[in-house]
Amino acid sequence: MDRTVNYNFKIFNDSQTLSKEFCSKSVNEINSLIEEKTKINIAISGGNTPKLIFQEIVSSYKTKINWKKINLFWVDERCVPPDDVESNYGMTKKYLLDPIQIPSENIFRIKGENNTVEEAKRYSGVILGNLAEVNNLPQFDIILLGLGEDGHTASIFPNQMELLKSDKICEVAVHPESKRKRITLTGRVINNSKKIYFLVSGKNKSSVVSKILNQNEDYLKLPGAHIKPVDGELTWFLDREAALEISNKN
Ligand code: 6PG
Repeated sequence: MDRTVNYNFKIFNDSQTLSKEFCSKSVNEINSLIEEKTKINIAISGGNTPKLIFQEIVSSYKTKINWKKINLFWVDERCVPPDDVESNYGMTKKYLLDPIQIPSENIFRIKGENNTVEEAKRYSGVILGNLAEVNNLPQFDIILLGLGEDGHTASIFPNQMELLKSDKICEVAVHPESKRKRITLTGRVINNSKKIYFLVSGKNKSSVVSKILNQNEDYLKLPGAHIKPVDGELTWFLDREAALEISNKN
């Protein structure tokens, strides 16, 4: 049964402010978590929005995080080599990993160059081997998500809604247009995270954001509408343009 949610969202003037405010909040959270845990397990998405976050982290927080205690995972990856322009890892390496001092053993990339089915299995094992289980599922501390104009999140597309309920940790997905294969976390693993953040900016997202947050007709046909933490927290960070069509913006 779908749990109704009252969405928790914050609206910022522009994507730069969104990025600054998100980084300020999340770095404080990470640093307080670091005092309680040996390692913080974070899964990051690809796309353009995370680039803004990485640039802010590098420019303002590079030496303010104990990277030795951070494990970085990916929410999804395109099935390409790490140096391919499409690679989420490759983008993260350029904008975040290379400029910071994080131990290589703390970086758990999805090996997009591997056989897809085998890599989905391998990465599921890596996650299980590094994360504690809660609700019989591995639990991330923080997951950063983006939202596509078609309502996809991670690499769960509207024509592959079964990936939301899969009992696997990772699955092979296929981009509906490019037909490019991807590896993605499944919806149940994402929803098992302690904290989930949607980071969405731009006028081109205003329609899909409003469909989900206003719970307009057919919103449940959008994968992003099914991101509802089991017992964690979900917060949407939006810029003004992406939030243009939200009805209850009080
Ligand atoms: C990917 C991402 C994907 C992304 C959305 C939003 O591999 O492409 O994981 O889910 O988060 O497409 O991308 P933007 O941040 O570029 O809008």
